Amino acid sequence: MKYVYPFIRQYLHSQAGILLGPEKDYLIESRLHGLLKKHSLKDLEQLVCVLESTPEGDIAAGVISSLTTHETSWFRDQRPFDRLRTEVLPQLRQQQRRQISVWSAACSTGQEIYSIAMLLRDEGMYSPMWQVSLYASDICKTALAQAERGVYNHFEIERGLAQTHRQRYFEMTPAGWRISSAVRQSVRFEAVNLTRLPDSPERFDIIFCRNVLIYFDPNTQRKVLQNLHDKLVPGGFLFLGAAESTAGLCDGFQYVGTGSGLYVRSKSLG
Ligand SMILES: C[S@@+](CC[C@H](N)C(=O)[O-])C[C@H]1O[C@@H](n2cnc3c(N)ncnc32)[C@H](O)[C@@H]1O
Repeated sequence: MKYVYPFIRQYLHSQAGILLGPEKDYLIESRLHGLLKKHSLKDLEQLVCVLESTPEGDIAAGVISSLTTHETSWFRDQRPFDRLRTEVLPQLRQQQRRQISVWSAACSTGQEIYSIAMLLRDEGMYSPMWQVSLYASDICKTALAQAERGVYNHFEIERGLAQTHRQRYFEMTPAGWRISSAVRQSVRFEAVNLTRLPDSPERFDIIFCRNVLIYFDPNTQRKVLQNLHDKLVPGGFLFLGAAESTAGLCDGFQYVGTGSGLYVRSKSLG
């Protein structure tokens, strides 16, 4: 039993870049309880045997889902969304652009990308003048499935959503509050591990990668930031979480003003 916790910590680190110290072993125990039950596994030792033989199957995905934190809310921290509206969009408009692409790179259950989608609609970006492309990804397939469904319970809907937005963009269904199909269908969802980004030529004007770097070790943070840098157009915007920064990790970004985690891709990396 002694090797079980170090194995699971090491597994989580190698698969998702997430650092969990031994002081969090109680979390491993409590968060994996449901998964053991679901797959009729006797204990964590049996789970470790499964991970050793099938490190990328359904159960493995369940371990990642259970051990990642999916905390999120509508317009979380508010200020980044204010800056998107009052600084970033006006700059893009000034450039006489006709296209805007946004990526929510650890979207959890979807509140972040749908907040962006509502804001862009409020700002009149869904007009024949603009082509808007919204992309959202997360490592956790369970969170992503809820994001794609776009259905939220009372507790979830209450967290940060204004009445006006609820009235304008949601309808009550027997399953819960469902975001309008126009908003839902405007977003492309995909399971993506930030530590293993697939090669693709796609580049974004704006990336939201908030409240996920804090779970990574510095080497993983460095690698992820360099990859995000690569995925932004020159002059593109990166929003990080309030406790996150590029300082000492990636010098291809310039911090813009105080608070709210806004960076601009300032130069190419050497
Ligand atoms: C705390 S939530 C943040 C959600 C949202 N960005 C926000 O700020 O409200 C962190 C999310 O990061 C995801 N995550 C953790 N490790 C990841 C990885 N290696 N690649 C992609 N997503 C990851 C988790 O599944 C979780 O949904």
